[in-house]
Amino acid sequence: MALTRLAVTNLRNLAQVDIQPTAAVNLIYGENGSGKTSLLESVNLLSMGRSFRSHKIKPLITQSAPELTVFGRLKLNDVELPLGVSRSRNGDSQFRVQGRAVESLAELASYLPLQVINADAFSLLEGPPKVRRQFLDWLVFHVEHEFYAVWKQAQRSLKQRNTILRRGRIEGCELTPWSRELIAATERIQAMRQSSFDKLLTVFEPLVAEFVAVEGLNLGLYQGWERDKSYADLLEQTLDRDLKQGFTGSGFHRAEIRIKIAGQNAADVLSRGQQKLLVCALKLAQGQLFEKITGRKCVYLVDDLPAELDERHRHLLVKWLNILNTQVFITGVDVDPLIQPWRHLNRDIKVFHVEHGAITSKDYSG
Ligand SMILES: Nc1ncnc2c1ncn2[C@@H]1O[C@H](COP(=O)(O)OP(=O)(O)OP(=O)(O)O)[C@@H](O)[C@H]1O
Ligand SMILES: [Mg+2]
Repeated sequence: MALTRLAVTNLRNLAQVDIQPTAAVNLIYGENGSGKTSLLESVNLLSMGRSFRSHKIKPLITQSAPELTVFGRLKLNDVELPLGVSRSRNGDSQFRVQGRAVESLAELASYLPLQVINADAFSLLEGPPKVRRQFLDWLVFHVEHEFYAVWKQAQRSLKQRNTILRRGRIEGCELTPWSRELIAATERIQAMRQSSFDKLLTVFEPLVAEFVAVEGLNLGLYQGWERDKSYADLLEQTLDRDLKQGFTGSGFHRAEIRIKIAGQNAADVLSRGQQKLLVCALKLAQGQLFEKITGRKCVYLVDDLPAELDERHRHLLVKWLNILNTQVFITGVDVDPLIQPWRHLNRDIKVFHVEHGAITSKDYSG
């Protein structure tokens, strides 16, 4: 799977860009503020309908323009799939696949599975639990077909239950149907998360050993409540607390992957470079497992490859991207550190230069 065309209009400083990233390895260089990250954001828009930098749409649209559009052509085996996204200042949005409006962002996300390694990657370690929960759920969503429907059901019952709890008093059995639905959905979500998490560990462990050799690294799945309790019992035992605070305090919505080193949060122990390497290992593991289970590949976006990584570790990341044998978009200010780790790997490479929002394809000479 690869993007073979990317046409962007009015995304930040990219007024009008139309490139053909037909190689597996697409290297993008240019000065600070030239538009490299914006180009990667455009790929993210095709996958998720939004940027990886923020959920806000207005800052993405070129000042003075009413809307942004991104058009992509995705090659899947022998089929070419046109994808289109437009988002406007007044809140309108369109997501199209093969000219047809897609029903949900979840459907859009299923076409172009992405892994992003960028400055935000640190939030996977130092951010709130939500970031690590979403990281795991990305995988579960892509490998378990019923996950999204069950997750939506759990969200709905949680919301209804919380509405009643917020009132501070319960009339009759009104809580029961929502608690019941929540329990059933939660148990299924937990089972799917546990299964994906266990598989993730098996591919992550050999990878992380190469990326960050630290003693005592441990990844654990926190299911959102104490492990040895059934969720049904837990809800009963915590009802008074939930009533007092006006919401359901424990459950699938509190789950996360806990990443510890000898009992301490990894973010408090590791250096910046080590943190980035740990995140790289996690994202490579996710892509590897995704392929193992679905037979499909993720496209990788690596924004500012040299940031925080020394030469040896840049080579290590490239070595694994090369093993994954998938399409990658990698940016950096200077071209040489981008090209260098790929020399001798004998890959199909395209180089693009970004200057004041304009992009030109450059000749690549090994
Ligand atoms: N809504 C907008 N309209 C117009 N220009 C914008 C908008 N938002 C951001 N910009 C500008 O777009 C440019 C591109 O930013 P971008 O983050 O893509 O640069 P970059 O090449 O990744 O730089 P760096 O090497 O510093 O990471 C910046 O100069 C920024 O000021
Ligand atoms: Mg940038």
